Amino acid sequence: MTQSNPSAANGDTSSRGLWSSRLAFILAVTGSSVGLGNVWKFPYITGENGGGAFVLVYLACIAVIGIPILMAEVFLGRNGRHNPITSMRLVAERNLASPLWRVSAIVGMIAAFVILSFYSVIGGWAAAYIGHGATGDFVGGNPDTINAMFGNLLASPGELLLWHSLFMALVVLVVSRGLKKGLERSVTILMPALFVLLLVAVGYATTTGHFGEAVTFLFKPDFGKLSINGVLIALGHAFFTLSLGMAIMMAYGSYLGRDVSIGRTAVIVGVTDTLVALLAGLAIFPVVFANNLEAGAGPGLIFQTLPLAFGQMPMGSVFGTLFFVLLVFAAWTSAISLLEPVVEWVEEKTTLGRSGSAMLVGFLCWALGIVSILSLNLWSDVTPLAMFERFEGKTFFDLMDYFTANVMLPLSGMLTALFVGWCVARESLKKDVGLDGKLFGVWYGLTRYVTPVAVAVVFVYNLLS
Ligand code: PHE
Repeated sequence: MTQSNPSAANGDTSSRGLWSSRLAFILAVTGSSVGLGNVWKFPYITGENGGGAFVLVYLACIAVIGIPILMAEVFLGRNGRHNPITSMRLVAERNLASPLWRVSAIVGMIAAFVILSFYSVIGGWAAAYIGHGATGDFVGGNPDTINAMFGNLLASPGELLLWHSLFMALVVLVVSRGLKKGLERSVTILMPALFVLLLVAVGYATTTGHFGEAVTFLFKPDFGKLSINGVLIALGHAFFTLSLGMAIMMAYGSYLGRDVSIGRTAVIVGVTDTLVALLAGLAIFPVVFANNLEAGAGPGLIFQTLPLAFGQMPMGSVFGTLFFVLLVFAAWTSAISLLEPVVEWVEEKTTLGRSGSAMLVGFLCWALGIVSILSLNLWSDVTPLAMFERFEGKTFFDLMDYFTANVMLPLSGMLTALFVGWCVARESLKKDVGLDGKLFGVWYGLTRYVTPVAVAVVFVYNLLS
């Protein structure tokens, strides 16, 4: 994915390679951001949080907080030209700020590690569904049979472990070889293909007779249905879905050429990511309503609805199988970006080398994933924080998801915004970010004031409620 460009020609003094083109960078960033977050998580949290009002807050968070932070992270990476922690230290030194700001990258890396552990388990679910699609299990399915299929998967720790192990092995494989052309090419082909298949699913959804109901559910806000915790979840998901607050965009930005406009690129990625999520919603909710399913069914939602849709449409087995293949790919490119920063760091701090580090981190992450697997069956009654009302009924798996996405990522993102907004010289930002006059002012204001204040307000409200 990177090649040894004469980076000095761009005014860069370091000898690291650069992305082969602006498109390559956009694809890699899109590969990281479009994943299970869009297709699996967005629909189910939207269902759990009442629809329209939640979606509106989520869109606002993407526009006002997500995209500006994406720009800030890419800026830090390109300005520092090292791994995220070192980059932050260097940028801090240049701007006479405290090196302690790099705490934000450290919090992010811990979050990345924990997220990957359960992300791989969900990636495993998607992989298991490739098999179900291919063997015709979706055909003629009704809500009961499809629910049973999902229930059986979750009830079987052995099967879950198998798919989780396979998925993690795939991720470790790529990361241990370094990110090469292969990934770039697969993103070029597979991301558009996933998009097309989502359109097919939306096309089917329009024939269910409940499309209008779904559009109303998704886009007509009813703020009575949105809790303050729902606002926190929308905010957290804006970070999760754009892969922010984890130093990933810093790592990717460190290979970005000087001539690329950070601003424009961030907008393209933000819009693409959002479109994929909305398409997933439009594919899923008509099926939910047509079959009298529960919109708030939780993490199983897409696995209980899409197979029904595929089972009823012509050539459903082909489309269904293909869809889950592409979903696994989308998850894979995201998971790679989750493992990459931690591996880079271990590689630098130890003598294990690239593949040794990838294997070590991958193994530890895999082991932690077992906790999530057990949460789905043998430990499904273990709710460690049940003494707090908010966490009643939440298993280890639910809690890891909650704390990483809704606490650690926004916190790390807030620190990044504060650092870029208040410690980095305005002129250096202006020169680097590539937005002209007015737009720069808007971004600067959002980064300096709006993001930190918004995150702080949502946090405080949540603590008090
Ligand atoms: N953004 C990815 C998704 O939406 C998940 C992810 C989160 C990837 C954090 C990397 C970092 O699925």
